[in-house]
Amino acid sequence: MIGVFDSGIGGVSLLFELRKALKEVDFHYYADIDNVPYSYHTQEKILELVEKAVLFLREKGCDLVVLACNTATNVAIQYLREKYDFPIVAIQPAVKVAADAILPGQKILCCATPVTLKAMRYNTLIDTLGIREITIDLALPKLVELAEAGVFEGPELDNYLAETIAKVNEDSLAFIVLGCTHFTYFKAIIETKYPNLKAVDGNAGTTKQVLRLYPKTKLKENSKIIFYESGRVVVDGSRYWNLFDRLKVKFCSFK
Ligand code: DGL
Repeated sequence: MIGVFDSGIGGVSLLFELRKALKEVDFHYYADIDNVPYSYHTQEKILELVEKAVLFLREKGCDLVVLACNTATNVAIQYLREKYDFPIVAIQPAVKVAADAILPGQKILCCATPVTLKAMRYNTLIDTLGIREITIDLALPKLVELAEAGVFEGPELDNYLAETIAKVNEDSLAFIVLGCTHFTYFKAIIETKYPNLKAVDGNAGTTKQVLRLYPKTKLKENSKIIFYESGRVVVDGSRYWNLFDRLKVKFCSFK
């Protein structure tokens, strides 16, 4: 069994990729909806919330836990890996994907939560890749709130994008890193509005890492997905199944 954690619905986009790659595994998805968005909590509080969720998933019998939340990764992964010995795979902003593909003269726009952009882990990654000079950081906390409210299009979204991405966009920008799993739902709209920006996210890289670590002996047939909201089992999962639909998946293939 694999546990997947996010502060809310963002990680469902990674769950979708994982489910496509591993059809014979049970998944337990934990959305911490009582506390989303994490951007408005202190680092200490986020650490406490992430640890609680990870231990919950572990108690459900998950052999491996995935942090499908860049904010959680940047605040908590080092602490969790030092304290616990079960495998934890953690998503992070896909700046390396952009850095590997970038051409001379081009720049990267990295969008994430303010917590991620301030975190030492993220900044060390930027420095290690040597891309500080060509990377523009942009915090988009309201996109998390819009996604949680089910607002995936319309004037409120358009206005927010106009006040944020449009203001920093310039011809030299070639990539937009969606460094928060909630942003994945806006990928198509962002690429359509700003055609110079190719959107990249960490879902494929994280899925690859899970495939590398998950023991094949644990695969089984007739797998299922169970959703939890801050520790409570979700009886009517239609909110989550509808997100799979939004991600262009056939609804029934996951049930
Ligand atoms: N999905 C989380 C991330 O990837 C969003 C965080 C939030 O709750 O603000 O960072």
